[in-house]
Amino acid sequence: MTRTVLVTGGAGFIGSNLIRMLSRERPDWRIVNLDALTYAGNLENLTSVEAREGYTLVHGDVSRPADVRRAFAAADSGGVQAVVHLAAESHVDRSIQSGLPFVQANVVGTQVLLDESRAHGVERFVHVSTDEVYGSLGAEGLFTEETPLAPNSPYSATKAASDMLVRAAHATHGFDACITRCSNNYGPYQFPEKLIPLMIANAREDKPLPVYGDGLQIRDWLFVEDHCEAILAVLERGRAGEVYNIGGHNEFPNIEIVRAILGALGKPESLIEYVRDRPGHDRRYAIDAAKIERELGWRPRRTFAAALPQTIAWYQSQDVWLQRVRSGAYREYYEAQYGA
Ligand code: NAD
Ligand code: DAU
Repeated sequence: MTRTVLVTGGAGFIGSNLIRMLSRERPDWRIVNLDALTYAGNLENLTSVEAREGYTLVHGDVSRPADVRRAFAAADSGGVQAVVHLAAESHVDRSIQSGLPFVQANVVGTQVLLDESRAHGVERFVHVSTDEVYGSLGAEGLFTEETPLAPNSPYSATKAASDMLVRAAHATHGFDACITRCSNNYGPYQFPEKLIPLMIANAREDKPLPVYGDGLQIRDWLFVEDHCEAILAVLERGRAGEVYNIGGHNEFPNIEIVRAILGALGKPESLIEYVRDRPGHDRRYAIDAAKIERELGWRPRRTFAAALPQTIAWYQSQDVWLQRVRSGAYREYYEAQYGA
């Protein structure tokens, strides 16, 4: 069935992987990508799909109703059947520096998108949220969909607020919406401010690897394509109004990840530099993904043992992409198309 999907935040890490996957797996779908092209939006992530028939980029901000209407207008006369909402300010450390841009993009943006989606007759809305809305775990236990929300950073607080707005749109208006809450992603095209690409990039340049606090915080790592497959499963088969946790059954302390990267690159552990801890740093995340496995038959297909080396090899093979991101040169692509 041909359909048009509006993806928000499609020039970012997960969004660009999702658009590539949809282009491959659902070649008859039309895709409209609404992206504000913030520092995290990189059109060089999408060069393999930009010429594809049925792909349209709309440069705009999800928190501006006129921009969102332009995105709906960019679809053909058949309209937009589905929205996958990924656009967000996504980096915890930036939210600690300044929370307001997170409220604007993540909270206001989600409400504007919900309102316009209802007004334009969208049949299915998938809101891509995060396990960080649940707060922090101790040594035991897993986050289930029933775990109370207890966000600890301005970033996760805005994601929790956006989840509540999606829930309210379903409860109040009967709007067909699902929420996904995924654990930490890794893979190609991740902005090198996040742990794995930052450590790879610094190690390759023999720069210090900044490990926050004692480095024993635990994250549950999932390869980005596994996440994209889960999003597609929820888009196509999820039950309206439901939340689906997505995770990798793959917990590691940060320091072990850092050591694995150094080992793979043949670099010395003397590059590790313990630095001041992140304020409000969540100690452990771990997902119980039984619901999506049971209801939708989704399971992660990649193992960390195979996909982490594959990810490191990708960054090694992408010197130009990495250097252009690290130097800011990737903005030229954007400026050439849209002006400064
Ligand atoms: P990212 O920072 O790499 O990309 C975000 C994208 O959104 C960029 O292209 C940016 O230009 C765009 N954007 C930001 N504000 C916008 C706005 N106001 N209007 C339109 N576009 C805007 O983020 P990511 O890591 O790809 O995460 C995507 C989504 O997935 C986010 O909602 C995030 O909360 C969620 N998520 C991320 C992870 C992870 O590990 N990265 C895990 C779970 C959930
Ligand atoms: O859990 C899902 C979340 O994962 C997403 O919602 C967020 O958008 C995404 O950014 C990510 O959040 P984290 O804060 O877990 O990711 P980050 O890569 O920033 O950090 C991972 C861990 O590594 C965390 O415990 C902090 C630590 N860290 C991070 C950086 C950047 C370091 O020790 N040193 C660093 O330089």
